[in-house]
Amino acid sequence: MDKLRITGGRALHGEVNISGAKNAALPELCAALLTSEPVTLTNVPRLRDVATMRQLLDHMGVQTQTHGERGGMTLHAADPINPEAPYELVKTMRASVLVLGPLLARFGRARVSLPGGCAIGSRPVDQHIKGMQAMGAEILVEHGYMVAQLAHGKKRLQGARIATDMVTVTGTENFLMAATLAEGETLLENAAQEPEIADLAEMLIAMGAKIEGHGTSRIHIQGVERLHGCTHQVVADRIEAGTFLCAVAATGGEVLLRHGRADHLDAVIDKLREAGAHIEAGQDDGGDFMRVRSSGRLKAQGFRTTEYPGFPTDMQAQFMALNCISHGTAKVTETIFENRFMHVNEMVRLGAKIQTDGKVAVVEGIEKLSGATVMATDLRASASLVIAGLVAEGETIVDRIYHLDRGYDQMEEKLRGIGANIERFK
Ligand code: EPU
Repeated sequence: MDKLRITGGRALHGEVNISGAKNAALPELCAALLTSEPVTLTNVPRLRDVATMRQLLDHMGVQTQTHGERGGMTLHAADPINPEAPYELVKTMRASVLVLGPLLARFGRARVSLPGGCAIGSRPVDQHIKGMQAMGAEILVEHGYMVAQLAHGKKRLQGARIATDMVTVTGTENFLMAATLAEGETLLENAAQEPEIADLAEMLIAMGAKIEGHGTSRIHIQGVERLHGCTHQVVADRIEAGTFLCAVAATGGEVLLRHGRADHLDAVIDKLREAGAHIEAGQDDGGDFMRVRSSGRLKAQGFRTTEYPGFPTDMQAQFMALNCISHGTAKVTETIFENRFMHVNEMVRLGAKIQTDGKVAVVEGIEKLSGATVMATDLRASASLVIAGLVAEGETIVDRIYHLDRGYDQMEEKLRGIGANIERFK
């Protein structure tokens, strides 16, 4: 199993290219199931989750091909397609549930494994099922699978008003994709507003879908009979960019993030500025950029994770690493997932002072962390331990780094490129 060895204490300087967003690429790969014509994505990040999704699509009979340096991938879901997502693939990646909407919409049936438990919480898919049922699907759960088909006599899903009990990102994406080919109009209320959803909607519109209101909590979709191929560039990964912002804020230094979208990270950038980091954002010939500068020990910042445009749960652990070595005390509240503090005990092994009580963690900043062996437990927890390792005195070993590979495109190469002392070993 791969591990990372990090020798902390170096300030970071230089330039990093931000990759395409994992959480946009995954639904966009699934959107290729909506048409029998080829679909080309560019800026697809090189990640294990993307490889897993590709494997799942291959299993269904989708032809996939990568090309070029810029993360190009063409997907061709010509008939016949086997509309089944087996447990072996779904259990390694919850986002596999994103095939449910497209399969039902185009083929009228799907057999998708239930994803089961997950390190960061129980994460049920009841809302996905409820929404598809509202659109006229009949869904049985048997032998660990969701077995879905169109209601008797129906040839297509039916447009519907769907109001979920809570805001769900992949739920909204599933409904959005399903509704593009449904008969009539669908209204998604309480829809997630994440930039990845707006990006997916842009791709679907390029395929011929009729969508309005994406990026807000009310999305209207007028179903069409068929969609066609398109070329679409995956939006930049705001969480990767946010992770690098926190890393530089913690270590000190100055780094230019190429292709980072500051307008997708307002909540995180506001907190970093309040903490004392300097962040400048703009556009030049190379496109969007952000420049971050920090002199090291900043002021600890309290925050509460909420749905977009609030502070993202996917940045909670990384910002906590920064708080650990800041001046003052900060209260961090996690409201999205019930079990997303697994990094806390590992940070405590590095000397951090953190107390948790249910959804709340209170971090008392200290001057220095001290290197130790820690274990990555999920994707964002891994990233937070890498940041902690970059500022800890001496050597930190981060074990079970496969979690990091699921969602960060060449993170250690990128960190090395800006001066971090970090290497992978077995
Ligand atoms: N929920 C339900 N029932 C459902 C769906 C969701 O109870 O049917 C609950 C969840 O258990 C959770 C809350 O609703 O408590 C929100 O979950 P959501 O459905 O929004 O999460 P998700 O769509 O499964 C996506 C990202 C996550 C990110 C969350 C929240 C993808 C592929 N995954 O997950 O990303 O944390 O939204 O923003 O888009 C990551 O990248 O590290 C990651 C975990």
